[in-house]
Amino acid sequence: MPAPRLRLGVNIDHIATVRNARGGALPDPVRGALAAIAAGADGITAHLREDRRHIRDEDIARLKASIDKPLNFEMAATEEMLGIALKTKPHAACLVPEKRSERTTEGGLDVIGGHDNLRGFTTALKSASVRVSLFIEPSLNALEAAVSIGAPVVELHTGAWCEAAMTGEFDKAEREFARIVAAATKAGELGLECHAGHGLDYETARRIAALPQVVELNIGHFLMGEALFVGLPEAIRTMRASMAAGRSEA
Ligand code: PXP
Repeated sequence: MPAPRLRLGVNIDHIATVRNARGGALPDPVRGALAAIAAGADGITAHLREDRRHIRDEDIARLKASIDKPLNFEMAATEEMLGIALKTKPHAACLVPEKRSERTTEGGLDVIGGHDNLRGFTTALKSASVRVSLFIEPSLNALEAAVSIGAPVVELHTGAWCEAAMTGEFDKAEREFARIVAAATKAGELGLECHAGHGLDYETARRIAALPQVVELNIGHFLMGEALFVGLPEAIRTMRASMAAGRSEA
C-alpha cells in the first residue's frame, strides 16, 4: 500500500518574533501565512504563548479569518487558552507544555502526570469539533497515555534527534531516530494519527518523511531562517522537494 500523503504545516511564530523585536505591524505573520500557502503549505501552525512573546491574540483571529487552509493552534493546557480555542474554533489544537523561562518548547507533555487534566482539555476541544493532538516524547508509554486521554492525534517531538544531528553527535542521533521509528510504528498500531515536529531541516525532514505512519510535519524556525537567504516561497518549495524525496523511499 502506498504511504499516505505527507502534509506540511508551516509554523509562522517567528515572523511575529521579528515583528515584535521592533514593535509595529511588520513583518505581518498573516502575510507570511498566505505566502506559505501559496508556496505549498498544507496548513498553518501558530503558538499563542502565555507571555505573547511572538503570536498575539489578534494574529490568531486574523489568521482564522484570512487563510483557507487548516489552522493548527498550539496551546498550553490552561483555561485561558481553552477559552480562546473554543472562541476561534481552529481546525486543530496541539496541546504543548509551556514554561515561561524556555526559549522554545522543550520536551513533550507530561501525559502521565498530567493525564486527567489533559483528558479534560481534550474532551472540551473534541466537543467543539477541534482535532486534538498531543505533543509528546517519542516513547511508548506516552503513546499509550495519549490513547487513554482520548486524543486522536499525537505529534512526536523530534527536537532531541534534530539537535543531535545538527551538532554532529551521530550515535545519539541514531538512537533518537530509532525511538522515533518505534514510536511512529506504535502510533500506527494504536490507531493514532502521527505527526512530527521541532527542529526539522531539509535533511531531517527528508529522513522522517520515509516513515509511512507520519502524515504531517510542522516546521517553523528552520524555514524562517532559510527565508532570510532565499525567500519563504523558495524555502518551502525546497522543503516540499525534500519531503517528497523521503516519501518516495517509504
Ligand atoms: N511542533 C510543535 C508542537 C512546536 O511547539 C514547535 C515549535 O513551536 C514546532 C512544531 C516547530 O518547531 P521548529 O520551529 O523548531 O520547526
